This record gives sequence, structure tokens and C-alpha cells, in this order.
Amino acid sequence: MDRPTPTDIEHEVRSIDMIVSKGDAEGNITYTNPIFMKISGYSQGELLDQPHSILRHPDMPKVIFKHLWSSIKEGNDVNAYVKNLCKDGGYYWILAQVRVAKNPDGSFRNYVSTRKNITAGAKEIIKNLYAKLLEVEKADGVEASEKVLIDFLTENGQSIETFNTFMLSLNK
Ligand SMILES: Cc1cc2nc3c(=O)[nH]c(=O)nc-3n(C[C@H](O)[C@H](O)[C@H](O)COP(=O)(O)O)c2cc1C
Repeated sequence: MDRPTPTDIEHEVRSIDMIVSKGDAEGNITYTNPIFMKISGYSQGELLDQPHSILRHPDMPKVIFKHLWSSIKEGNDVNAYVKNLCKDGGYYWILAQVRVAKNPDGSFRNYVSTRKNITAGAKEIIKNLYAKLLEVEKADGVEASEKVLIDFLTENGQSIETFNTFMLSLNK
């Protein structure tokens, strides 16, 4: 499937929308709920077995996904703001929670992501942060953008350990 060409058209995520997907150990999509398909513009057939990176928007810094994957690989939940690309090239912003679901015997079952709408205040802060991270990343790589992310957290009295609660606190 060709990657959509990004446009400036933003798709609305309403406060009642809860966009859910599940993924296997590699992040390939194993389930999506109807609102996921409605907002992204893809059918279930187009999504199942595809990597979640089908939604990857070029405005997203790599360091955020690096943090996401290192958290869930260690079994920790992560809350992160994500700008996603739709099939028609439009985009939508969400605050995602990705967590690890386990079987009763404690073995890995799948990754589950629930995504909700974000406030104008959070969007403003995160757009600026991600633009800076992307700029640094393009010039000097992910290690450099990781440093910028840590600096941002430190300036706000936070650290990578408080990343999740801080991200949640911005969404008001
Ligand atoms: C359960 C789950 C949900 C994910 N949801 C998204 C998503 O909504 N958008 C996105 O761009 N990446 C999502 N990812 C991360 C992707 O797997 C991938 O790391 C990211 O799109 C960056 O692509 P890349 O690793 O090929 O650079 C998700 C991963 C998991 C495990």
C-alpha cells in the first residue's frame, strides 16, 4: 500500500471517542475498534496484520516511539501524545496509553492501546516540543533529541520516570 501524502486536514477526535487497537509482540495490528477505522479511514482488512507504523506521521519524532517501545518491552505502560496519519493524508492528535496485557499464567498476551482526544493546551505544548525534537533529530540523530526531551522534562521539574503522569497532567 502506498503511503498517503500528508495534508493539513485535521480529523476530529471527540471527547467520547476511545480509539482502541491491539498488537502482537512486533506491534502488528490484531484488533481495531470501529472508531479506529472511522477516524483513520482504513477498513479492518487493510489494518489487520499491518504494523502500527501504518499510522506513523512524518511529524512524529522517533524518540517518542523509542521511549514507547523501551517502556512496553520492560512491561511498563506508557502515555504519549501521537499525531497519526489517516488514509486520506489527514491527521489526528491523540493521547495514547499503550499497555502490556498478560495471560492468566503471566505470559505475554498482547499490547493494547487506547487513545483519547487531547486539549488545545496540550496540543500547543506538544506540537512545539515535537517540532524541536524532530529538528534536532534530523540534524543530529535520536540521541540528541533524547537529550532535548530529558531537558524539557527537567525544566518542568520532571524526569523520564514521571513521563506518564506529566503527559496526563498536560491534557487539561
Ligand atoms: C499497541 C501499539 C499501538 C501503537 N499505536 C501507534 C499509533 O497509533 N501510531 C503510531 O505512529 N505508532 C504506534 N505504535 C508504534 C509503532 O509500532 C511504531 O513504533 C511507530 O509507528 C514508529 O514506526 P517505526 O518504528 O517504523 O519508525 C504502536 C505500537 C503498539 C505496540
